[in-house]
Amino acid sequence: MKRLRTTAVHGGRDDLADLGVHALPIDLSTTYPIPDQVEGGHALQHLAEGAAHATSPVYARLHNPTVARFEQALAALEGTSAAVAFGSGMAAVTAVVQAACVLTGKSHVVAVRPIYGGTDHLLSSGLLGVRTTYATADRVADAITPRTGLVVVETPANPNLDLLDIAAVVAQVGDVPVVVDNTFATPVLQNPAAFGATYVLHSGTKYLGGHGDVLGGVVACAEEHAGPLRQIRILTGAVLHPLGGYLMHRGLATLPLRVEAAQRGAVELAARLDAHPGTGLVRHPSLPGADPAGLIGTGAQMRGPGAVLAFTTREDPAAVVRRLRLVTPAVSLGSVDTLIEHPSALTHRLVPDAAREASGVPANLLRLSVGLEDVDDIWDDLDQALSSHCEEDYIKPSSSGFREPAAGH
Ligand SMILES: Cc1ncc(COP(=O)(O)O)c(C=O)c1O
Repeated sequence: MKRLRTTAVHGGRDDLADLGVHALPIDLSTTYPIPDQVEGGHALQHLAEGAAHATSPVYARLHNPTVARFEQALAALEGTSAAVAFGSGMAAVTAVVQAACVLTGKSHVVAVRPIYGGTDHLLSSGLLGVRTTYATADRVADAITPRTGLVVVETPANPNLDLLDIAAVVAQVGDVPVVVDNTFATPVLQNPAAFGATYVLHSGTKYLGGHGDVLGGVVACAEEHAGPLRQIRILTGAVLHPLGGYLMHRGLATLPLRVEAAQRGAVELAARLDAHPGTGLVRHPSLPGADPAGLIGTGAQMRGPGAVLAFTTREDPAAVVRRLRLVTPAVSLGSVDTLIEHPSALTHRLVPDAAREASGVPANLLRLSVGLEDVDDIWDDLDQALSSHCEEDYIKPSSSGFREPAAGH
């Protein structure tokens, strides 16, 4: 097996030299000529049964070669035998719930908060016919019932960067599949399948695409779990457009470099924000006390702390964001530019206030996705936005722990 950066550059491209092309081919066909309709029927049957490919793609909702290349590359990065791409991260979450619960006759999900607000809202809405129990990471076992079809976790979690021990969750669940949303870590920093996750999910809209210009999702898993996901994708039409597949595949080549560079900036900014009088709690896995379980390090669950951080503000967070001139005030993350957003107003707005607060996401928390700008320029902008109302003689309390209780913040 090749090393990470090599896999990122070469994954899904093995046959390009033989084809005599250098850039990834984009196949925009919606339908494919089938001179032999009997053989075409067999191809359709294979795909409808969940096969990764057949003698003909038949129709673009069944299979697309450009998307399949991206899937192959992502699976190689995650260390799984397969991956299945979708039109968005939420379409991927939906398909995983359908595969693990609806197809198997299960009606219950256990989730560990916080998770992305859209996922949280989908799970609590009942829209997919499942009921969700929210548990803390150490009490997942207590929440499992015979009807439980899926356990949903994120680490680092959106938006407060909580870390959880994937293997410790997996050890509690018996046969119940675990989906780990790996959007924040990316395969550069973490491969949840190696710790027992059944499904590894990404909003490809974030770091995989990496430039804020493509919406997509992908699930890496073993081939036996990929088949049902493909069947669901065919039936629900939750397909990724081939241009999206191309852009996310192209993004993979620079993913390690982008994540490593943004992470360096995030480590620096987390330390500076932690010392700034305009912030309260600062949350980044690099900060002292942020990783008590030792989940980050060589041979550990994560190879680095990542490039998203969060902090509470002493002043109204909306006022702080309004003063920013360089940092982009927008939801989403993992782009080349630094993005800031206010979770309780935006990404986690639909999570009930009490539940949000209880999961360590206070109302004055801002989430910052560090981009690739010069770190001193990002800092200058944050510093001026946070400093406007700081009293000259204010001395910040020394405690800025990672995971203090939400109450009072
Ligand atoms: C961690 C995480 N998972 C899933 C999603 C949903 O992805 P998408 O917006 O691509 O549907 C998001 C979106 O913000 C996210 O941050």
